[in-house]
Amino acid sequence: MGNVPRFILALTMAVLLPYFVVSVSTKTKIDTSIDQSALQALKAHVVSDPQKILKTNWSITTSVCNWVGVTCGSRHQRVIAVNLSNMLLTGTLPPQIGNLSFLTSLNLMNNSFHGSLPIQLANLHRLKFIELGENYFYEEIPSWFDSFPKLQYLSLSANKFTGQIPSDMFERLPKLQSLNLGMNNLSGKIPIDLLKCKELQFLNLESNRLEGILPKEIGNLTMLRSLHLDNNRIEGEIPHQIGNLLNLEQLTISGNMLIWRPPAMDNLTRLRILDLSRNDLTGAIPFQFQNLLNLEQLNISFNLFREFIPSTIGNLTRLTILSISANYLSGEIPSDIFERLSKLQDLDLSSSWFRTSIPMSLFKCKELQIINLAGCALGGILPKEIGNLTMLRSLDLSSNDIEGVIPHQIEYLLHLEQLSISSNGLKGLLPSITNLTRLRILDLSYNFLTGVIPHQIGNLTHLRILDLSHNSLTGVIPHQIRNLLDLEQLSIYSNRLNGPISSFISNLTRLTFLQLSNNSLTGII
Ligand SMILES: *[C@@H]1O[C@H](CO)[C@@H](O)[C@H](O)[C@H]1NC(C)=O
Ligand SMILES: *[C@@H]1O[C@H](CO)[C@@H](O)[C@H](O)[C@H]1NC(C)=O
Ligand SMILES: *[C@@H]1O[C@H](CO)[C@@H](O)[C@H](O)[C@H]1NC(C)=O
Ligand SMILES: *[C@@H]1O[C@H](CO)[C@@H](O)[C@H](O)[C@H]1NC(C)=O
Ligand SMILES: *[C@@H]1O[C@H](CO)[C@@H](O)[C@H](O)[C@H]1NC(C)=O
Ligand SMILES: *[C@@H]1O[C@H](CO)[C@@H](O)[C@H](O)[C@H]1NC(C)=O
Ligand SMILES: *[C@@H]1O[C@H](CO)[C@@H](O)[C@H](O)[C@H]1NC(C)=O
Ligand SMILES: *[C@@H]1O[C@H](CO)[C@@H](O)[C@H](O)[C@H]1NC(C)=O
Ligand SMILES: *[C@@H]1O[C@H](CO)[C@@H](O)[C@H](O)[C@H]1NC(C)=O
Ligand SMILES: *[C@@H]1O[C@H](CO)[C@@H](O)[C@H](O)[C@H]1NC(C)=O
Ligand SMILES: *[C@@H]1O[C@H](CO)[C@@H](O)[C@H](O)[C@H]1NC(C)=O
Ligand SMILES: *[C@@H]1O[C@H](CO)[C@@H](O)[C@H](O)[C@H]1NC(C)=O
Repeated sequence: MGNVPRFILALTMAVLLPYFVVSVSTKTKIDTSIDQSALQALKAHVVSDPQKILKTNWSITTSVCNWVGVTCGSRHQRVIAVNLSNMLLTGTLPPQIGNLSFLTSLNLMNNSFHGSLPIQLANLHRLKFIELGENYFYEEIPSWFDSFPKLQYLSLSANKFTGQIPSDMFERLPKLQSLNLGMNNLSGKIPIDLLKCKELQFLNLESNRLEGILPKEIGNLTMLRSLHLDNNRIEGEIPHQIGNLLNLEQLTISGNMLIWRPPAMDNLTRLRILDLSRNDLTGAIPFQFQNLLNLEQLNISFNLFREFIPSTIGNLTRLTILSISANYLSGEIPSDIFERLSKLQDLDLSSSWFRTSIPMSLFKCKELQIINLAGCALGGILPKEIGNLTMLRSLDLSSNDIEGVIPHQIEYLLHLEQLSISSNGLKGLLPSITNLTRLRILDLSYNFLTGVIPHQIGNLTHLRILDLSHNSLTGVIPHQIRNLLDLEQLSIYSNRLNGPISSFISNLTRLTFLQLSNNSLTGII
């Protein structure tokens, strides 16, 4: 019973289909031929295609709509998106690209396209999404970027663009939400007109040569969620209007020339990442940081902050990275500051002047992978609880006044790659380090360590730097040192070692630095 209607339907289709197909194909033929010749021109301008993607796939025997990286609109069968990202292509953009008049999305990210951008691109008024990052485009950023009234996303990051950011390009980009011009060679000031793009949520101008001040109109961009201005030459104060950007989640301005106290940011409670490092900011560390309860990364290293570490930092329980090194901080490290920082992975308080011992609360941070407390004027001992931090990869306590022995629990730190406790007051024997087979750097120089160098040192086959100089070590240099084939620096001068300098040294072919003097060693190398 059901066969009859189906038959009729098939018959009807058979009669109608030729007209249907013909009418559609003549229409698409005209339309796609424009797109096809434009894409063929692009293919012809690709001089290297090591994966033979375009070479094998972009064949004129199939519709452009089946070409890899090409998307057509379902109704009109015109090319609406070209996505050639991550294809290892080398080449230039031909002027014909301006004929893809239905294009809304162009993504050429992470290839080796070079040269300048053809002005014909400006014909593509439908573009909403332009991603040209990680290529080698050069010359100045063309001001015709204002030709895209629908543009929401523009990234030219990690190219070779030079000159100033053209300020008129922002006149007619009312929809722009994301702008990334980072990692180019752009100079001049941040154009005020850029701050008219009220819809911006993401703005990245990092790693250029931008100068002048950060305009107070930045406070107009109230939709901003990410602002990255690192590694430029921005000077003056951080405008207090930045405190209006209530949606900010990431604010990074490291490596500029900002001065004075940072403005109040109490209300930026959505901040997850705050990096103001490597500027000339002064004053006390702002107490208001205590309100930023969502902070995961706080970096204010290499500034001119004074006074002490506020204990309220201990309220920031989501912190994974805390870096306050190289300021003018003094006073105690608040003893309970680490009590609730259970997610902390990376702690850097180096180059401060604390004159306390290591707070015991530190050993509650079980996720810690990196501890840098070098040059902090720390006294006291290294507590045996260090052995609880079994995730540690790097422990740097150099240049302090830590006394006593190295606790044997150090042996539990199986992930350690760096152990540096040089220039302290350590006594006693070298710890058992047999299990620390991932160590690359072992620096216990300038202490008062005694006893022999254990032959198990030869098991640390990843060692690149071994510095035991300026201690009171005795006995012979264990010949197992010849197993340390990656060793680049061997420094054991100023000890009481004796015996022959055996030929083992000749096995250490990567050695570039060797200091054995001030011992009682015999023989020649
Ligand atoms: C080109 O790639 C697309 C998508 O991967 C595929 O569907 C098509 O069959 C390929 N065409 C040829 C000629 O290889
Ligand atoms: C482009 O292609 C890449 C994979 O090569 C994919 O990750 C990305 O989401 C695609 N989409 C757009 C809009 O570029
Ligand atoms: C760039 O593309 C290459 C080749 O597909 C890929 O191996 C590499 O991971 C990509 N780089 C980035 C940063 O995505
Ligand atoms: C495509 O663009 C080029 C250069 O911009 C132009 O000379 C040519 O006439 C256009 N071709 C078609 C088929 O529209
Ligand atoms: C950056 O631009 C300046 C001119 O503004 C030029 O002198 C310099 O060579 C460029 N640097 C690079 C790495 O392209
Ligand atoms: C910033 O906002 C203020 C007040 O709303 C307005 O007067 C000013 O023109 C805006 N500036 C820019 C650059 O949009
Ligand atoms: C933070 O918000 C409160 C309440 O809206 C307001 O009274 C206060 O002035 C704001 N603080 C700053 C620094 O903007
Ligand atoms: C924040 O820290 C201060 C000082 O350490 C403390 O008095 C206060 O109770 C803490 N607030 C919270 C929510 O933990
Ligand atoms: C160290 O670990 C031991 C055993 O897991 C535990 O009893 C001790 O409380 C821990 N010490 C600290 C300071 O967390
Ligand atoms: C060191 O390694 C040996 C052999 O793998 C193991 O038996 C011993 O328990 C380890 N010691 C520590 C302190 O982890
Ligand atoms: C240390 O190396 C020696 C060979 O030099 C090997 O016999 C021994 O098992 C190694 N010990 C450990 C704990 O890996
Ligand atoms: C060290 O060198 C000597 C002679 O050059 C060689 O016989 C010996 O196998 C080498 N030892 C190692 C561990 O490479």
